[in-house]
Amino acid sequence: MRLDKFLAQCSGNTRSEVKKWLKMGAVTVNGTVASKPETKIDPEKDIITLQGKQLSYQSFVGLMFHKPAGCVTATQDRYQETVLDYVDHPRKKELFPVGRLDLDTEGLLFLINDGELSHRMLSPRYHVPKTYEAQIAGEVTQEDVRAFEEGIDIGEKKKTLPARLEIVEVNTEAPPTSRIRLTICEGKFHQVKRMFEARGKKVTYLKRVSMAGIPLDEALKPGQWRELTAEEAERLRESC
Ligand code: URA
Repeated sequence: MRLDKFLAQCSGNTRSEVKKWLKMGAVTVNGTVASKPETKIDPEKDIITLQGKQLSYQSFVGLMFHKPAGCVTATQDRYQETVLDYVDHPRKKELFPVGRLDLDTEGLLFLINDGELSHRMLSPRYHVPKTYEAQIAGEVTQEDVRAFEEGIDIGEKKKTLPARLEIVEVNTEAPPTSRIRLTICEGKFHQVKRMFEARGKKVTYLKRVSMAGIPLDEALKPGQWRELTAEEAERLRESC
């Protein structure tokens, strides 16, 4: 890896800022002052210091993002804003979303740089739980709760896995509406919307509030992100 890239990534600064440090002689590699940005280093083995302080390289990068409605869960798109357009992080180029939220869905999305972990988290083998809050057109009933618990036929080979549906509030005045919380342990295409559709109801608002037991940080407004804490990153790994 190039020294200037390593320094930019570890410090969160731009490469031009990093070049200044190199020129100033503020950087050492294994005890020797290094001034060339293109110097090749091994981030796992070499000891790099900046102004006398040793830098440690973290290979894993993970962000918690509060996806707003109206952006696509992709890293690039010709026509529409993507989730990555909201992220200004020195290692943004390495990041991709874990799974998908629909264009109109809001809420928790992890952006990470570990393809293997992402693959496992999305694998049907691990049943990583995801909790959603939704607004429903129609009256959600205890019968719906039981049906979700038993599994819903959404037109796939098998019924959906048991899901926990909680009725938060029902407004019976015409036209009736309901607020619910739903936890599912799989991630089929448009799954929540299709589950309600199969019960003759329509999701009018959808937000993911938790995944893998990690709640969306309430301090994050739609469009905002922060790095995952070490505990959260560990929890992602433990979930699968
Ligand atoms: N289920 C849906 O229908 N849409 C989403 O974005 C996520 C889950």
